[in-house]
Amino acid sequence: MSRPRKGIILAGGSGTRLYPITMGVSKQLLPVFDKPMIYYPLSVLMLAGIRDIAIITTPEDQAQFQRLMGDGSAWGLSFTWLEQPRPEGLAQAYLLAEAFLDGAPSAMVLGDNLFFGHGLPELLQAAGQAEGGTVFGYRVADPERYGVVDFDAQGQVRTIVEKPPVAPSPFAVTGLYFLDGTAPERARRVTPSARGELEIVSVLESYLAEGALQVQQMGRGYAWLDTGTHGSLLDAGNFVRTLSERQGQQIGSPDEIAHAQGWIDDADLRARAEVFGKNAYGAYLLGLLGEAP
Ligand code: G1P
Repeated sequence: MSRPRKGIILAGGSGTRLYPITMGVSKQLLPVFDKPMIYYPLSVLMLAGIRDIAIITTPEDQAQFQRLMGDGSAWGLSFTWLEQPRPEGLAQAYLLAEAFLDGAPSAMVLGDNLFFGHGLPELLQAAGQAEGGTVFGYRVADPERYGVVDFDAQGQVRTIVEKPPVAPSPFAVTGLYFLDGTAPERARRVTPSARGELEIVSVLESYLAEGALQVQQMGRGYAWLDTGTHGSLLDAGNFVRTLSERQGQQIGSPDEIAHAQGWIDDADLRARAEVFGKNAYGAYLLGLLGEAP
């Protein structure tokens, strides 16, 4: 019986591209329409069935995240809070989380990535069952901004290149990484890149070299949005607003997902709804119980 997969949310970084907004608050606490940004990647881990989660923030921002999210017990989760003093690369997360992971496989999601799509829970659960490493390739108009998948003539993944000046394909690697228990020791072998970071693509390359990396396509029916610029942050908010108001269903509600997963019961959800008083979010949670505010 394999070990349960643990989660990592990487929510460090200085967010300089969003200055002056992020001079006073962590980027991952900013609103994406009606919820703090970090709720969305948290929801992704929850949909993957993951309950034991390390949240990595800067030392300065940690108290604010804790005020927002507590120890996870309100959602039937367990949070371990870790600090990343400086943004020295995504692969560093595996070194910071090594003791937390304790050899377990993991799913790491970036705190500013938003995923949406029909079939997402199934896609995530399949990745959670796989051996080795699984990442997701997603077609974008501006692949140069990301890690990009380089395919050979047979359509096999040749390598993954970080922010290439000329992208070898339109397929970016999303900020969601399902890796086995060897990720920390692979991260330890990584040396800093030209931009001074321990690059996640170096870890992925080590899996690739052993034929242990799967690159799953996330097709056009999915939305993968990032929130790295003022424009894309607003776009993500508008996307969430458009869909959630049209459908009358929340996107990225940890309360709803915890209840649907059976990790909290009706009374727990009712107690959560009361926290939000009579606002729309509280009313929505009561509505899930068939109750009016
Ligand atoms: C990071 C990764 C990159 C990945 C991207 C996804 O980029 O280095 O490979 O495609 O996240 O959001 P960064 O946030 O450092 O620009």
